[in-house]
Amino acid sequence: MKIAETDFQAWMGGVQARMETALSRLLPAAQVAPTKLHAAMRYASLEGGKRVRPLLAFAAGELSEAPRERLEIAGAAVELIHAYSLVHDDMPCMDDDVLRRGKPTVHVEYDEATALLVGDALQSLAFQILSENKLADQPQRQLEMVRTLAVAAGSRGMAGGQQIDLDSTGSALTPPELEFMHIHKTGALIRAAVLLGFLCGEKISESEKKQLDRYAKAVGLAFQVVDDVLDADASTATLGKTAGKDSKQGKPTYVSVVGLPAARRMADELRQEAREAVRDFGGRAHRLTALADFIVLRKF
Ligand code: IPE
Ligand code: IPE
Ligand code: MG
Ligand code: MG
Ligand code: MG
Repeated sequence: MKIAETDFQAWMGGVQARMETALSRLLPAAQVAPTKLHAAMRYASLEGGKRVRPLLAFAAGELSEAPRERLEIAGAAVELIHAYSLVHDDMPCMDDDVLRRGKPTVHVEYDEATALLVGDALQSLAFQILSENKLADQPQRQLEMVRTLAVAAGSRGMAGGQQIDLDSTGSALTPPELEFMHIHKTGALIRAAVLLGFLCGEKISESEKKQLDRYAKAVGLAFQVVDDVLDADASTATLGKTAGKDSKQGKPTYVSVVGLPAARRMADELRQEAREAVRDFGGRAHRLTALADFIVLRKF
C-alpha cells in the first residue's frame, strides 16, 4: 500500500472511531425508559456503517479549520438522519429487506411499529443535537445549518427521493428522471454533510462554499450510482445487505437504465468531476479527493 493510502486509512479509522464514541454518547442509554425504543435506536445507529457522511463533514471542515467537537455533532446529526432513512427504507412497506450492516433489520429484530418509531426518534434527535450544541460563533450561521439539514431530509430532499423511488418501482425511468431521483434520495444528505462540516469552521468564503457544493453534488450522485452497481455486482456477504434485490424488485437503477459498464463509467466521470471541483484548493482538499476515490472505488 502506498503511503498516501495508509495515511487515508488511518485518518478514516480515526474519524470512524470518534464518531462511534460520539454517537454512543449522544444516543439515550438502552437502560433509560422506554428501554425498547432506546435499545432499537442504538441497534440501528451503532456498530456498523461506513460513516461516509461524517467523513465528508470532517474532510470539508478541514478547509474551514472547524473544531473537531463541532464536526462530531454535525457529523452525528447527518448520520442519525441517514440511519433513520435506512430503518424506514428496509421496512416491508418500502424495500422489505431483512439484512442491514450484516445484522437483521430493525423491524425484523424488533417489530414494525418499533422500526417506525426508531426512525421518528432518530430524526428528532438529529435536530435536537444540532440545536443544543454550539456549532458556530454566529447564531444565524447555526440556524442556516439546521435549515440545511431539514431541507436535505425532507420532501425536497431524501424523503422526496424515496417517494419517487417507491412510485417508479416496476416502471422505466429516463436517465434524467433517474438522476433526479438519485440526487434527492441520496445526494441531498451527502451535500448537507459536506456543507455542514464546512460551516462548522469560521474560515469560510462564498466562493469556496460554491466549489465545495459542486464537489458534493458530484459525490452525492456518484454514491448512489455505485450503490446501484454494487447491488448488481457484489455479494450479500461483502455488502452486509441482500445483493441483487434491485432487479428482483424492479427498481429503476443506473444498472437497469444504462447498463453495468455505462454505470461504472459514469461513476468514474463523477469522480473526476468531484476532483476537478476542488482542484483550486490544492493539498488542502486531499481528504476530499481521497474520499471521492473511496466512494467510487469501494467494494461495499
Ligand atoms: C446505503 O448507504 C444507502 C444509500 C443511501 C445508498 P451507505 O452505503 O452509506 O450505508 P452504511 O451507512 O455504510 O451502512
Ligand atoms: C436508499 O437507497 C436511499 C435511502 C435510504 C434514502 P437504497 O434502497 O438503494 O439503499 P440500500 O441499497 O437499501 O442500502
Ligand atoms: Mg430504497
Ligand atoms: Mg433499500
Ligand atoms: Mg441500493
